[in-house]
Amino acid sequence: MTALTLSTAGAATLRADALVVGVAKGAKGPVVAPGAEAVDKAFNGKLASVLETLGATGAEGEVTKVPAPSGLKTPVVLAVGLGPVPEKDETYDAETLRRAAGAAARALTGSKKAAFALPVEAAEDAEAIAEGALLGAYAFTAYQGGEKDAKNSRNGNGAKLPLAEIALLGAKPRDKAYKAAAERAIALTEEINRARDLVNTPPNDLYPESFAAVATAAGKEHGIKVQVFDEKALAKGGFGGILGVGQGSQNPPRLVKLSYTHSKAAKNLALVGKGITYDSGGISLKPAGHNETMKCDMSGAAAVFAAVVAAARLGLAVNVTGWLALAENMPSGSATRPGDVLRMYSGKTVEVLNTDAEGRLVLGDALTKASEENPDAIVDVATLTGAMVMALGNRTFGIMSNDDAFRTSIHEIAEEVGEQSWPMPLPSELRKGMDSPTADIANMGERMGGGLVAGLFLQEFVGEGITWAHLDIAGPAFHEGAPYGYTPKGGTGSAIRTLVKLAERTAAGDLG
Ligand code: BES
Ligand code: MN
Ligand code: ZN
Repeated sequence: MTALTLSTAGAATLRADALVVGVAKGAKGPVVAPGAEAVDKAFNGKLASVLETLGATGAEGEVTKVPAPSGLKTPVVLAVGLGPVPEKDETYDAETLRRAAGAAARALTGSKKAAFALPVEAAEDAEAIAEGALLGAYAFTAYQGGEKDAKNSRNGNGAKLPLAEIALLGAKPRDKAYKAAAERAIALTEEINRARDLVNTPPNDLYPESFAAVATAAGKEHGIKVQVFDEKALAKGGFGGILGVGQGSQNPPRLVKLSYTHSKAAKNLALVGKGITYDSGGISLKPAGHNETMKCDMSGAAAVFAAVVAAARLGLAVNVTGWLALAENMPSGSATRPGDVLRMYSGKTVEVLNTDAEGRLVLGDALTKASEENPDAIVDVATLTGAMVMALGNRTFGIMSNDDAFRTSIHEIAEEVGEQSWPMPLPSELRKGMDSPTADIANMGERMGGGLVAGLFLQEFVGEGITWAHLDIAGPAFHEGAPYGYTPKGGTGSAIRTLVKLAERTAAGDLG
């Protein structure tokens, strides 16, 4: 993990391998952003024109490296684009700072220590920069090469290691708000990066049992009670959905319950995550080209796990229960067939028309189980449908809910923490498409609006009168394109920041 400290040092006096400054897009060319005054001075006030000569414009995400003049204690100055100069009396918004810090941290892969001299007006700005830098300085290298060469910041394959140390300038290390901001950023990003690791871990190593073991160990470390239902307990309990999905695999399914409690908690929040450690589609096998990234199908469970641990680390005054519905969806002689009927934990029967619509089956059981404790709200998170990716693209998750106000709150919270999301409806006329001649419901309905059909299926398993929302993160959970901002290739940690902020809001009594 990359280390982060708040430093009182001036930009011109701190020793580091690189100094990060912001550059904005002004009306007449690039403009050096606040926080870098001392750096500009070392360039005799000519930093902007030096950058312009090198082709910099100040566009978002743009990175320009300049050799440092003799007045500085770093060999390199890295200017990162911040986009347009803010309007008068306005400052850079949090997501702009987060992305710029992330882009800078990524560009400094292979460096040991960097000082960040980006614009900081308030503790929130320091928090956003810290978050972006720590998320940007992520790399999944566990499966690359043998011996690390830490001295030269390289892994065993000679690939460069992530930036090891970040000093944040312009913050006030002795100020309570700044200290809390840094601590929150560190705890949150460590858990997001851990969730990314889980998503990126290949499915031959991450399967229900090994995921449950990771959760058990983390629970011990952070004072979270962890209960694991193995295949025997699931059979005894009648969890037909989770068992039906997992029965084709050599790796048996698990349901993991994580309970974080706080003595002053007034509210109970339940989080439910889809944890398909590999989704081959089962007997309704996915074609080649659609299964190479399906290790990501446990991203919802990883998000829930990370959010519960983050809530515990931050000591939030709310009870948070996480439910991880873990199974591997494989075809075999023992697998569920299209046409089989499963009896769910709720007692409802489901005709499985397509074994690739497995997420709703494991989630159905977990939602019913979570409902038994009558929480104030349930939020489930799942890489549930390709239809949601069709609708919203690769960066935006869909939010469905049985409560319009709750859906709006989650959308606003997501926006505030810099996660792209959009409210989606649950049109009741789509329910009849799931009518089954044989069972109470089928696991598939109309193809059109497939993401909403899946949401309607889940709703059937939520306890009467319980506020519930469903986040379909199939688009943003796994990033296949080029890295940007603080988003790497592979697992992204989608929805974690939203869940943690939701828990904080619930603790503060700001919701329902
Ligand atoms: N895990 C997939 C959904 C998915 C697609 C996640 C793309 C991430 C990226 C899910 O289990 C699935 O296969 N859904 C089917 C449902 C259909 C058979 C009703 C789908 O979306 O095609
Ligand atoms: Mn599937
Ligand atoms: Zn799936």
